[in-house]
Amino acid sequence: MHIKKALLRLAALGLTAGVSVFAPAAVIAMEAEGASAGHANVDVANIPSLQRGARNFVNYCMGCHSAKFVRYNRLGRDLDLSEQQVVENLMFTGERPFDTMQIAMPAEQARVWFGNPPPDLSLIARSRGVDYLYSFLKSFYLDPSRPTGVNNLVLPGAAMPHVLWELQGFQKAVYEGETDAQGNVHKTFKGFEQATKGKLAPEEFDLFVRDTVNFLSYIGEPVQLQRRNLGFRVLGFLFVFFLFAYFLKKEIWKDVK
Ligand code: HEC
Repeated sequence: MHIKKALLRLAALGLTAGVSVFAPAAVIAMEAEGASAGHANVDVANIPSLQRGARNFVNYCMGCHSAKFVRYNRLGRDLDLSEQQVVENLMFTGERPFDTMQIAMPAEQARVWFGNPPPDLSLIARSRGVDYLYSFLKSFYLDPSRPTGVNNLVLPGAAMPHVLWELQGFQKAVYEGETDAQGNVHKTFKGFEQATKGKLAPEEFDLFVRDTVNFLSYIGEPVQLQRRNLGFRVLGFLFVFFLFAYFLKKEIWKDVK
């Protein structure tokens, strides 16, 4: 009995540990802003979204972040782009199609410039989860005490500047203070307030971030495009096979009483 209980507890621990490393802080914080604000809702089967995400990534992220496990020609194949389109839209610094998405910034230099080097983003969707990434990119807010002028709600003290400020504009974080019996003030996050306007409307910016995160999810596991497809076909096969097996069994056993 005890062993069973202990095992159950272990299993529960394992489950929560697996999902709770990053998600809750991010999602809870974003939920203060609106019911489903912290959910990325990405769909890797949506090829146009992945194409937009790839464009966003090379234009806005690759100044600092590499994706060193991703080859340009693989991108082209998976995202229905011709080699010509890949070269014209995604490659700007004379790479060759079979190159991986490297950047010129040396990691050591980056550490000096930013304090923390920008991580390679090939597997970031696997290690952080898409909801976290979506929340992270939407949570930069003005904070004059930081060297970058901004802070991040889900990664406090983040060394990354608000690189999407032109699109999103700047926002302020609004807190509500409550004084407890001992006279201590507890601040709770209420939501964001737009301080300056960006080029994109809020819904357009959400879509921009969603496409970018979708792309990060795809590069984290490119084979997921084929995996799903194959999964459905295998299930289909098993179903048809089941029908055959069932009727065959009926046929064979029909005279046996
Ligand atoms: C000006 C350089 C710069 C650009 C451009 C940039 N980042 Fe970053 N990014 C950083 C730095 C520096 C860090 C390290 C932050 C830290 O650990 O404090 C970082 C960290 C991250 C992280 C990891 C956060 C974590 O939880 O550890 C993610 C995800 C990320 N960036 C996504 C992006 C995406 C997506 C884009 C493009 C829209 C982008 N970054 C553009 C500099 C940049």
